[in-house]
Amino acid sequence: MKNIVLIGFMGTGKTTIATALAHRLKMRYVSTDDLIEKKEKSTINEIFTRKGEEYFRDVEASVIRDIADKENLVIDAGGGAVLREDNMANFRSNGVVICLAADEETIMARTKKYKHRPLLNVEDPKRRIRELLAKRAPFYAKADHCIDTGKLTAKQVVEKIEEIVKSAG
Ligand code: S3P
Repeated sequence: MKNIVLIGFMGTGKTTIATALAHRLKMRYVSTDDLIEKKEKSTINEIFTRKGEEYFRDVEASVIRDIADKENLVIDAGGGAVLREDNMANFRSNGVVICLAADEETIMARTKKYKHRPLLNVEDPKRRIRELLAKRAPFYAKADHCIDTGKLTAKQVVEKIEEIVKSAG
């Protein structure tokens, strides 16, 4: 089975959906953020603070290279993985790429209780979300399919992805 790769902005539900999907389809759940933290023996926050975002992006690209040729994975990709074309090419090489989306309000509501995302640990996270969403829109648009998770239950999103995967053969 080809990989299923979930891309999308922070707070669009990638982790919840990828976990449920992997369970349902008996595939293996893999998170790029978890692999980065394991490889660096450090949290994402610490990596950003000590080494900076570019370093984080290099490690992200390297873990994506490592998993791209594997099979039967549901890949939960960090929200910024789309920014490098190489990552997208690696995802596409053996997977169907599905973008999860949500509007600014939904993302704000879903992310505000957490502190593990360095890009949102700022004075005005709403503004940051708006700016990043605008900047990244063309990158997320490169997915094979897109699902707005704002008004759907997790179960409904999982079902939609199952349909996509089935029709993709
Ligand atoms: C990031 C998203 C995060 C994580 C890091 C950077 C981004 O992953 O990779 O904090 O640039 O959008 P999630 O999308 O899983 O929160």
